Amino acid sequence: MHGLVSRDLLRDRTVFVSGGGSGVNLAIAKACASVGANLVICGRTEEKLRAATNELEGCGAQAAYAVADVRDPGAVAAALAVAADRFGPIDALVCGAAGNFLAPAERISSNGFRAVMDIDLLGSFHCAHAAFEQLRQTRGTILFVSGGQSQMPFLHQVHVAAAKAGVDQLMRSLALEWGPYGIRSNSIVPGPVNGTEGMRRLAESATEEVWAEMVPLGRFAEPEEIGTMAAVLISPLAAYVNGAQVVVDGGMAMSGSSA
Ligand code: HXC
Repeated sequence: MHGLVSRDLLRDRTVFVSGGGSGVNLAIAKACASVGANLVICGRTEEKLRAATNELEGCGAQAAYAVADVRDPGAVAAALAVAADRFGPIDALVCGAAGNFLAPAERISSNGFRAVMDIDLLGSFHCAHAAFEQLRQTRGTILFVSGGQSQMPFLHQVHVAAAKAGVDQLMRSLALEWGPYGIRSNSIVPGPVNGTEGMRRLAESATEEVWAEMVPLGRFAEPEEIGTMAAVLISPLAAYVNGAQVVVDGGMAMSGSSA
């Protein structure tokens, strides 16, 4: 977390992160942990979750995990119940769990398209739906992790573009519908981020240099740069931000379609 941010920014608040075992989602969890939040992460792989929970505790947080595939609404509800039992109703939900692979549209099977829609879009809905009552009690907030594909098509990402566009409209719909309960909904749109599974998958078709050329700032983000902005959006500093898609991509969205 950036040194200028108060160590108490999220003191004693509880943040639940789906897909929090790795990548950008873990960076978001760590940023929240380092400014006082309690963390609960969920994902499919217990080993990854256990290691990530240790990292979060290393940031000074109280942390817990629950194994859950966001495609399973019962498992998601159980994971949120684990969070409430441990820390009380959550203050923030980060919908980060996502699936991705590069494939030309004509080669994606119905099941392949559906797998990404189910994880990214339906999974985000399952999390928000299951967290509603807790967030209503805390007047909490939801942060969806979207992608640049939601606005600007990327080659061989038709399934992800459709899913992420859906995630952003889910976000805007909840901002409208749950705003009156004091629940803010926003999305963060990371550009290319160093060391993540997403970039490993997408970089198959282009080198890091090609990607970096598409970013006006000329470099990838560090995971902490996404984490810091997410923590600020979750915090009271963003108390009047609702229904916003916050792009943190070094200006890439202005530079045209991707490789
Ligand atoms: C074509 C593919 C494929 C590929 C899988 N499928 N990979 N089709 N090309 N490379 C098809 C399979 O053939 C199958 O269809 C269907 O997808 C489901 O595959 P499974 O492996 O059975 O599903 P599952 O185990 O549930 O895996 C889901 C997944 C997988 C999305 C396919 O990649 C996954 O679990 N990913 C999670 C991790 C991840 O992707 N992280 C990166 C997210 S980052 P058939 O018809 O054969 O049954 C991110 C940010 C991007 O999204 C940042 C952009 C700037």
